[in-house]
Amino acid sequence: YEKPGVNGAKVVIPVSILKDGTIKRIQNLGTHKDDVIVASFPKAGTTWVQEIVYLLQTNLDFSKASEKVLETRSPFLEYPYPGLDFVEKMNGPRVLKTHLPFDFLPATSGNGKIIYVTRNPKDVAVSYYHFAKMFTPLSFAGSFYEFLEKFEKNELPYGPFFDHVESYVRHKEDANLLIVTYEELSKDPADVIKKIATFLGKHLDEEDILKIVNHTSFESMTKNAAVNYEHWDDLGFRNKSEAKFMRKGKIGDWRNFIAPDRNETFDQWIADGNKIKFPFV
Ligand code: PPS
Repeated sequence: YEKPGVNGAKVVIPVSILKDGTIKRIQNLGTHKDDVIVASFPKAGTTWVQEIVYLLQTNLDFSKASEKVLETRSPFLEYPYPGLDFVEKMNGPRVLKTHLPFDFLPATSGNGKIIYVTRNPKDVAVSYYHFAKMFTPLSFAGSFYEFLEKFEKNELPYGPFFDHVESYVRHKEDANLLIVTYEELSKDPADVIKKIATFLGKHLDEEDILKIVNHTSFESMTKNAAVNYEHWDDLGFRNKSEAKFMRKGKIGDWRNFIAPDRNETFDQWIADGNKIKFPFV
């Protein structure tokens, strides 16, 4: 990994996507009025928000949502599959995913809309750890506390965490940016889905909202092959002895991994890093 400086932002970017010019191509990608970029730090609830936005942008086309995996319906910009050639040829409205900080987004992203999703860093660290063990290209072999130390030292892809959050929160007054949290989505999905719908200019009745709530509950997404990443098993991307992509789906699972004394030092790290005092639950 390297730390490049683009528009003053510093971030740990996987070298593979720097080498082939992906970052530059993303910055030069033409974005349109009906594009929605779902942006996040890894493991903050991206997949959940992508599926909600996909349903809203297709006016609740549940059958289309089940035909293909989310990776093709809502491409991850900096990932080689399905890739930027595919993204450029896609018909709108496009729902695009990225883990890049705000300053790395396409220069024209102001034409469309951006939804940033964030989550308590303790649960992010726990979810990221399980993902790093499960995802074969990463195959992290250390302990959870070793991983946590890397998180604190800003050594993980897309870190530093708080710079990432701050890069979006700095733009919170922009009319085309909406910030949602994993926690508010967990506690009151209908309310957050309504908020997202309004942001996208969609007017839904209570019945439609409820349909999206049910379709995007953890229980249904776990069983849904179009969103649960089980196709990675066949592609060799998953260490099958490790947790699944849809792992637990809960607020506060960190309590099962971070002991009270370690939590004190992590709290201090959060207090030092969260300069903008983002209200994490
Ligand atoms: S990624 O790889 O960055 O795109 O991962 P991301 O989707 O951001 O985060 C994965 C975590 O989100 C949980 N998840 C959900 N929780 C509740 N409800 C729904 N519908 C849902 N969908 C995904 C997923 O289980 C991961 O969190 P953990 O804590 O590991 O379970």
